[in-house]
Amino acid sequence: MPKTSPRKTGQSVIGLFRALGVDAKSVPRTRPLYRRLVALLEGGIARGEVHAGFQLPPERDLAAALEVSRATVVSAYRELEARGLVRGYVGRGTFVSAKPDTSSAPFAWRGKIAASALQATDSTVRDLVRAAADPNLMSLAAGVPALDCFPTDAFRRAMNYVLSTQGDAAWRHGPTEGMQRLRAALAHRFGGEAEHVLVLAGAQQGLDLLARCLIDPGDAVIIDRPGYLGAIQTFRNAGARLVGWDITRADPDELEELLLRYRPKLIYTNPTHHNPTGITLSIRTRRELLELAARYRVPIVEDDTYRELALTGTPPPPSLFQLDEAHTVVIRINSFSKMLAPGLRLGWISAVRAIVDQLALLKQQVDPHTQNLSQLVICELIEDGTLDAHLATLKAEHRRRRDGMVHALREHVAAGLLRFGVPDGGMYLWCQLPPHVHARAVQDRALRESVMVLTGDPFFVDQAGDHQLRICYTSQPAANAARAAQVLARAISGAAAEARAERPLVRVV
Ligand SMILES: Cc1ncc(COP(=O)(O)O)c(C=O)c1O
Repeated sequence: MPKTSPRKTGQSVIGLFRALGVDAKSVPRTRPLYRRLVALLEGGIARGEVHAGFQLPPERDLAAALEVSRATVVSAYRELEARGLVRGYVGRGTFVSAKPDTSSAPFAWRGKIAASALQATDSTVRDLVRAAADPNLMSLAAGVPALDCFPTDAFRRAMNYVLSTQGDAAWRHGPTEGMQRLRAALAHRFGGEAEHVLVLAGAQQGLDLLARCLIDPGDAVIIDRPGYLGAIQTFRNAGARLVGWDITRADPDELEELLLRYRPKLIYTNPTHHNPTGITLSIRTRRELLELAARYRVPIVEDDTYRELALTGTPPPPSLFQLDEAHTVVIRINSFSKMLAPGLRLGWISAVRAIVDQLALLKQQVDPHTQNLSQLVICELIEDGTLDAHLATLKAEHRRRRDGMVHALREHVAAGLLRFGVPDGGMYLWCQLPPHVHARAVQDRALRESVMVLTGDPFFVDQAGDHQLRICYTSQPAANAARAAQVLARAISGAAAEARAERPLVRVV
């Protein structure tokens, strides 16, 4: 259904005629009349005179104005609806939905798309993953770990072993919740209990399932500000009202105010090596968060995707899920995308049994079960210690890449043009540009030199992020840091000069 209330002009016959540049008298009367009306409206839609979202007048009004029967207008509207050009909503009226297709299809495909699906217009994630796979681009945009550290030999050995000993299990159907052996291995290595684990095709699938499981349109969701863009997109598409909790302050009092004011359905947070800021919440804040969630009876969805990527010797505080010992309020999401590789598409949720069951019922509709072969191979890698050995190697390489990028940016970008803290985990530098420099301008300029960074705006639930950049320092070898920093330095000073030139002169009178 159209998001905005119908335009006044669209509701009246006069408004329609004005848009089409006709009047009632000039509408041809040749028969069959409804075909004439279809042609008139189709032409107006094709030329953009009446645009998507325009509300057509009620059938009765149009019939009276044209001095035709109501059945004629009903037939015309029905024909336009079959062609995908308009859509009727009970009790609301008939709206233009799409222009005619230029292809040879007998209807406009766009007009056939469900109203709920039409809400999905943000292509940031799709653009990101496409750019990450483009060999002509140096992408510092998508969150990709050091893939050259991937334990390829161990993976190949494990796969051969699985195929020769458990081929049957690999190729049969498996349980929607995930293979029992992997669920047990995940619970053993990452905490929780096997029956509380639901294996997923990546953490993003978990966010989608949770949104479908917990959110009704109009429900409020409290989310980190800034926060993970994939979660923002998914919850927004589910119809949630998103409310930002400033993760840089991480003030429990502020959270309590939001809980009282918005009565949210859930809190989503990524409290460990946060994407994009790198922040890790202290144990004290974690306990306060849990206390608030219990007091106000609001579930927490904890995204724990970066937990294993600490860059110092000190591990982060326990997860909210671990601290919530009886697992009564926290649902935890994890993924192998950052620990191993995003191309694996393997993640999991830990939650109470009732939620795991409901999520599995939803999951079976789109993904009867996650691919068995990768589940079995990952089991081997967890059980034989490969994963832990790999994580040690990966973290050492990430440290090198972080230090390389920090050094290169400090060397090449003029002082004051880019501020950032040095994170002690995760994969990103969250960078602040001067207030007059727009992130989009920097991004465009860097892209012209085949380097991609991400602007801050998709990480905010409101209109912010215009002066922030997120740089993924783990995705490129340290040897590329200097070139990336040089390109960014040119892009930032170019955007700064452009902004200065465009700034209105203030006249002193
Ligand atoms: C916080 C967070 N959650 C979830 C995801 C999605 O991970 P996956 O590749 O497992 O779907 C990402 C990916 O960047 C992320 O940063």
